[in-house]
Amino acid sequence: MPLVHTFSSIPATHLPSLIAVSPKAELHVHIEGTLEPEMACALAERNGVALPYADPAGMRQAMNFRCLQDFLNLYYTATAVLRTEQDFYDLAQAYLQRAAADRVVRAEIFFDPQAHLARGVRLETVLAGLSQAIARSETDHGVSAALLMSFLRDRPVAEAHELLDAVLPFRETIIGVGLDSAEAGHPPELFADVFARARSAGLHVVAHAGEEGPPSSITNALDTLYAERVDHGVRCLEDVSLVQRLARQRIPLTVCPLSNVRLQVAPSLAAHPLPRMLAAGLKVSVHSDDPAYFGGYLNHTLTASAEAMSLTSHDLYVLLRNSLESTFLEPAAIASHVAKLDRCFAEAAGG
Ligand code: ADE
Ligand code: ZN
Repeated sequence: MPLVHTFSSIPATHLPSLIAVSPKAELHVHIEGTLEPEMACALAERNGVALPYADPAGMRQAMNFRCLQDFLNLYYTATAVLRTEQDFYDLAQAYLQRAAADRVVRAEIFFDPQAHLARGVRLETVLAGLSQAIARSETDHGVSAALLMSFLRDRPVAEAHELLDAVLPFRETIIGVGLDSAEAGHPPELFADVFARARSAGLHVVAHAGEEGPPSSITNALDTLYAERVDHGVRCLEDVSLVQRLARQRIPLTVCPLSNVRLQVAPSLAAHPLPRMLAAGLKVSVHSDDPAYFGGYLNHTLTASAEAMSLTSHDLYVLLRNSLESTFLEPAAIASHVAKLDRCFAEAAGG
C-alpha cells in the first residue's frame, strides 16, 4: 500500500503529537515579528527607548488589527527598541530556540533592514547580530537557518536599490531577497529592476503577494520578479487560471493562517482557504509570519489549523513535506529531511 494511504489511517487526535515530533521548515517568519512584548519592554529599558506601552500586557492589548496596515504600525513602533548587535543576536537566538523546540529543521528568516536604517542603525550592526545567531544555530539548536533580506514595498524603489548596493559586500550573509510591508498600491512590478539585480548576484527571490493585494499581484510577482516562492498567495483562489498555473508550475505558497485571521484576510480559522488550496493541488505549506503578534509559533499554528479546518493526516503530511521541499536547501538535504518525516508518519501509523 502506498505510504500516503497508510498515513491517512492516523486518527485526528494523534495529529498534535505527530506535529510535535515531525521535522518541518519555517519559510515565512519575520524576525522582527518574533519580538515578544516581554523582550520589547526589556530592550526598551536596556536602550533607553520610549515605547508607547507601560508593560508587555499593554503592548498585547494593542494587538487588535483591522488590516495589515494596523499591524504594521505596531510592528514598526516596536522594532524601534532594536538598536545594537546584541539586540539582534538576542532576538534571533530566542527565535531559533523556539524553532528548535518545534522541531524546525530549517528556517529561512526575513528581516527588514530599512526599518532599522531609518532609525540610524547600521546595516552591519543588523547583519552581524543576526548572522552570529544563525551561524551558531545548527550546533546550538540543530536548526539550519538562513536570512532573506526584505525590501519594504511602501518605501521608494531607489531606496531598495541602495539597500541592495549596501548588502552586496556582505553577499554571503543572505541567501535571498523578499518583498514585504503594505501591499495595496505597491505592486511587485515596481521592483522588477532591483529583483533582476538581486538575481544576477545569485540571490534567491521571493515576494509577498496576494495577501491583501489582488491575484494580479501574484501574477506580477511571478512574471516581473521571477519569484521562486509566493508568500501568502491566498487571494489566488479568486482567479481560476492563476490557480491552475500555480499548481502546474508547482510554485510554493507560504501560507500563514493565524496571520490571515488576525489581519482579517480570512474571516476565521475554520473558514480559512487552506483546505481549498490543498484541494486545488497547490504547493502550500503553513508558517507563522509574525508569531509574537498573531498568537503562536509554527507547531501551534499547525495544530490550531489542523483542528479548526479538520485537516487529515494526509493533508498534514503534504503540508510538512511541501515545507521541506520548498526550502532553498540542496536536494540531498531535502531528501534526508523528507525521509525522517516519512519515518515519523510511518511510526504514527503503526508501521
Ligand atoms: N511584514 C511583516 N509581516 C508582514 C505581512 N504579514 N505582510 C506584509 N509585510 C509584513
Ligand atoms: Zn510575511
